[in-house]
Amino acid sequence: LTTIVSVDHDGDNHLTYAQAVSALQAGEVVAFPTETVYGLGAVATNETAVAKIFQAKGRPSDNPLIVHIGEAKAVAQYAEHIPLVAQQCMEAFWPGALTLIVKAKPNIFATNVTAGLATVGIRMPNHPVALSLLQKTGLPIAAPSANRSGKPSPTKAEHVYHDLKGQIPLIIDGGATGIGLESTVLDVTQTPPIILRPGGVTKEMLQAVIGEVHEATLTDVKDAPRAPGMKYTHYSPEAPVYVTTLEDHALQEMIIMHQTQHEKVALLAMSPTSLQANYVYDLGNTIEAMSIKLYDALRACDQTDATMIIVRAVPLQGVGKAIMNRLEKAAGGNRLI
Ligand code: TXA
Ligand code: MG
Repeated sequence: LTTIVSVDHDGDNHLTYAQAVSALQAGEVVAFPTETVYGLGAVATNETAVAKIFQAKGRPSDNPLIVHIGEAKAVAQYAEHIPLVAQQCMEAFWPGALTLIVKAKPNIFATNVTAGLATVGIRMPNHPVALSLLQKTGLPIAAPSANRSGKPSPTKAEHVYHDLKGQIPLIIDGGATGIGLESTVLDVTQTPPIILRPGGVTKEMLQAVIGEVHEATLTDVKDAPRAPGMKYTHYSPEAPVYVTTLEDHALQEMIIMHQTQHEKVALLAMSPTSLQANYVYDLGNTIEAMSIKLYDALRACDQTDATMIIVRAVPLQGVGKAIMNRLEKAAGGNRLI
């Protein structure tokens, strides 16, 4: 049985936290909100507890987890070496949507957290509920996104419930998450550091603080899978996703053409749009609004009889890079041109 408990930011949530903390300390998994997406947490030093995360998500065991900490200085207990750039990133972006890949101290984390790698991803999230939970538990918490493996990450507690009901004992509902896309993953064991996964902390923001930063390309990932997670299909709703750069007129004709071939078309577009389809999801009028709404909209398509999902491409600037990275994966290369 899965229980959902709500926490509001000003209420007395003492009992809720006590329940969650004792569940974690007893080796259970707990889903909780962060500012990016909901995470499914377990104590990162407890192999049996961490195994429950993989089990509940159906996650491949060679894909390592991010370790979450409640105070930045704890990183010294877990990292073998903290390069200057890591220090600068922590000062500038923690707590926040930035995961740093560092060399791990040996024999601290359960081996299933790091999937046998010598490195570990560490992040201090910027969300009052996540921070309270981490600080009250006082232990490092391994937490991937709290979705079924392959599905879009959860941005609401109800998404977690939909994917994992019956599989996990507790979901802490802290409302919708603020960024809506997973954290930026930055490998600081390399010089210059490499962005393995684009996210809310953009390349531009990183470069302003640490200078030159590289980005992993799809070829890098195929040749030397540095972020093991990058090779898996991700973020996919049931119907196939198509990314398009077509202008309004051509896109409307394309939609009508597919409808005459008995497709039910869901269109995800930024507002305002005059385009018509069987289902139209408004992603807001800024790139930040789009990142908040994207996964919810992809999941909403699963509740319809849509047979194809069309999403408008966005410029590869700022958070646009993270959005396009997730869309390319959801689409698996499908494009409408
Ligand atoms: O925003 C987020 O990062 C969320 C919230 C819950 O914090 N978590 C999240 O975790 O997205 P997950 O497991 O869905 O994604 C972790 C990513 C994967 O692509 C994984 O391959 C990569 O980080 N990763 C983890 N440890 C790594 C390591 N040692 N070296 C390279 N990549 C690593
Ligand atoms: Mg994930």
